Formats: sequence, structure tokens, C-alpha cells
Amino acid sequence: MAKLKTLYFCQNCGAQSAKWIGRCPSCGEWNTYVEEVIQKDEPTAATAWKANTSVGGTSKAARPRVISEILFEEEPRMLTQDGELDRVLGGGLVPGSLVLIGGEPGIGKSTLMLQIAMTLRQLKVLYVSGEESEQQIKMRAERLGEQHPGCYILTETNTQNIFKQIDQLQPNVVIVDSIQTLHSGLVESGAGSVSQVRECTQELLKYAKETGVPVLLIGHITKDGSIAGPKILEHMVDTVLQFEGDRHLSYRILRTIKNRFGSTSELGIYEMQGTGLRQVSNPSEILLSQRTESLSGMAIGATLEGNRPLLVEVQALVTPATYGTPQRSSTGFDAKRLNMLLAVLEKRSGLRLGQHDVFLNIAGGLRLDDPALDLAVCAAVVSSLNDLPIRSEMCLAAEVGLSGEIRAVSRLDQRLSEAEKLGFAEMYISQFNARGLDLSRYGIRVQPASRLDEVLEGLF
Ligand code: TYD
Ligand code: MG
Repeated sequence: MAKLKTLYFCQNCGAQSAKWIGRCPSCGEWNTYVEEVIQKDEPTAATAWKANTSVGGTSKAARPRVISEILFEEEPRMLTQDGELDRVLGGGLVPGSLVLIGGEPGIGKSTLMLQIAMTLRQLKVLYVSGEESEQQIKMRAERLGEQHPGCYILTETNTQNIFKQIDQLQPNVVIVDSIQTLHSGLVESGAGSVSQVRECTQELLKYAKETGVPVLLIGHITKDGSIAGPKILEHMVDTVLQFEGDRHLSYRILRTIKNRFGSTSELGIYEMQGTGLRQVSNPSEILLSQRTESLSGMAIGATLEGNRPLLVEVQALVTPATYGTPQRSSTGFDAKRLNMLLAVLEKRSGLRLGQHDVFLNIAGGLRLDDPALDLAVCAAVVSSLNDLPIRSEMCLAAEVGLSGEIRAVSRLDQRLSEAEKLGFAEMYISQFNARGLDLSRYGIRVQPASRLDEVLEGLF
């Protein structure tokens, strides 16, 4: 019988210590150390997945090589039928990669993964669930429509049993829902604890690397937005995707947080419908679709989310405050930034906002932090205050500085092209952006401005 040994693990960052400590020396959090039993002299991940091979499959000692002599072969990628997922993965699934999909409960992670499992038609897919019963998964699959005959469901949480089944089935893709429900017999502590999560991920990582089978892992997110379990989990996997959005609204964003095989500025957009998630390939059209006529308090901002240009509607409502302190409330836009812009409007443009409530909303439930939205926010506020609509073919893309100056934004050409594609006729930008740009190339009238006042005068 192996000797039992306990260690204390920080539940926030995964640091370990031989004794309990109140404050984690590594991440600075208080009261995060929890005792976990580990079985020290038992070999860990190695025995779980074929003990005799080492990671990478080579037993020769490595030698340094001149970089120019190393042959580079483009990794062949597995394309899923889901264009949005392929995009965030950097052009499809890489064989042998371990991908973590994080998200709040109920956001649609299981739905997305089951949908992916259903669309990988030419492949044998194993969907391991520790969260739902076969019946529940079947019920969801029924809602999603056509079913893939090569998709196998396994409701099991013990990794040794899972690997036994994998050995028999030899799937081409493995999906695990979720890493926090798995437990390995090699570690004593309960499922979801730091040492379990680490051990199970290590076993899956070893399996993926040795067989070349990509593994998609679902992970839960804690209240403060980090993926539950140690930070180590994020370090171990090749790619971390985050699924986010407001549970009560239908749009969902799949964002790349880390990617060893591509860029992290990619973004996928979905809409949750009664029959599953629908890919949204042209998001601006949907975000703007509920616009009929020009109303006051509405301005269109040309923003970039990741690499994708998006035209979003910024809505503001400015009303005289009835009770004492005026309210400022913001949905989808940073409240501090809104306060700053209101102060700039007050000081630099002489608007009297001190006795007004200001409500701001980004239509479609998106949460955006692109500074290029500043000008659209200011325009929407002024439009609502004066009750004057902004011309409907107008959009804006510029940052507003503390002295009311209009500052340049990144990748203006992409924003201009998108606005042109959607039929906008005019765009306000910073004069600094206008330099060095061939404006005649775009079928859209560009209005360079240097001060906030100039824009506010020209808008109505
Ligand atoms: P789920 O995938 O279970 O979320 P997670 O795994 O991230 O916890 O699904 C979340 C929600 O999606 C659930 O409340 C119901 C809704 N939903 C739809 O609106 N349409 C559908 O077709 C499906 C399957 C789910
Ligand atoms: Mg789920």
C-alpha cells in the first residue's frame, strides 16, 4: 500500500505548500489553501496512459539543432463544419491538441460541443459526459436535429475507465464535459480539486500527444471569471477558448484567450436558438437589423472585436434627474469610461449633464471595450439630450481624449470597409487617422475631425 501524503494547494493559482498558509505567497489571495491527499510514490500520469512511452513518443535524448535545418511541415488540420469554431482555432482543429472551452454555467458549452460532435461526419467522435445522463444528452441531440451515426456517448468520470473505453473504440476526436467532474484513481482527493484537475488534464494531454487525437475539454468558470481550478490548467492546454454572452440574450461570443497554433484575436459569434447555436457570419447585419428610422439617442459606432469589424448601435437616454443624485448606468460599456466621457462633454463642450440621469446601452447584449466607441457614445448622449436624431447613414470611429480631442484608432481601413459594405455613407474619424490613408478608395464620405465640438456640430 502506497504511503498517503497530504499537501496544501492554493485553489486560486495551484501553488502548493507542505503546511497551511493564510495568504498565498504566489498569487496573494487570502484563505485559499486546502488540504488534499496525494499518493506520493505512485507514478502518476505515466501509468494512466501506457506507461512505457514518454511524451512525444521519443526515447532518444534530444540534441540541439540549427533552426534552419529543422524541416517545417504545415500541420494538417481537421476542419469542423463550424466556420466560427475553425476561425477561433486558427483554421481548424490541430491533431493531438488539447483545447479548453471555458464559460459560465448555462451559456451553451455542452450544446456547442454536442453540435460539433454531430457535424464531424467523417470521424468517430467520443463524447464523455460526467454532467448529464445519456437520456439528457439524447434529448438535447434531438433538439439539435440530424444525428451523426459515428458519435458515441459515454457517461463516466473515472479517467482509467475512460481510457479503457477509448482503447477499444479508437475515436478520432474526444470531447470531455467537464474537466471538473473527472477523477483519476491515482489521486486521492475529490473531483474538481486542484490536484485532480491537474492529474486528469495531464493524463488527457499525454493521451492527445501520443495518439494525435484532439481532445476538447469543457471547463467551468468561477464567479470572478477565471476558469475554475488552477491557473496551471490554462498553462497545460494548447488552446483556451472562452464562451461568453448574456444568458438572457441570444448572442454568444467564442473568444480565443490562448492559442499555440494561431492568433488570439479571433472571435466567433453565435446565436442561441430553439434548435441550438446558429453561426452568425455577418454580425453587423443582425446588430443593426432592428433599426427602422432615425431616433434620438442612437449612434452607430464602428468597432473591432478581435479581428472582426462590427458596427454596433450605441443607445443613450438622457433625462432630467427627479431624485437628488443623478444616475449613471451603463450596459455593455465600461461605466468609468462613460463617466469620463460625460465629464469631457460637460467641461469641453459646455453641456449641462449634472442634473440629468444618463443610461447607456450597447444593443445586442455585447460587451465592448474598444476605445473607438467613445465618439459614438458622446454622439448618442448629445443626441438624446437635445432630442435630435443623428442622420441614419452616419457612423463614427474615434477615441475621445480628456481635452475633447479626437484621437486615432487602429485598423481604420477594416472599419471603413465594413461600414461601406453595410451601406453607410459617412464616417467621422480622427484627423490623425486621415493622414496617409487614401480616402478616395472608399465609397464612403470620410469626415476627419480634431475636436469633439466639430463632430457634435456636424452630426445633426
Ligand atoms: P448548456 O449547453 O447546457 O450550457 P452549459 O453546458 O454551458 O452549462 O445550455 C444552456 C442553455 O441553452 C439552456 O438553458 C437551454 C438553452 N438551449 C437553447 O436555447 N436551445 C437549444 O437548442 C439548446 C440545446 C439549449
Ligand atoms: Mg453543460
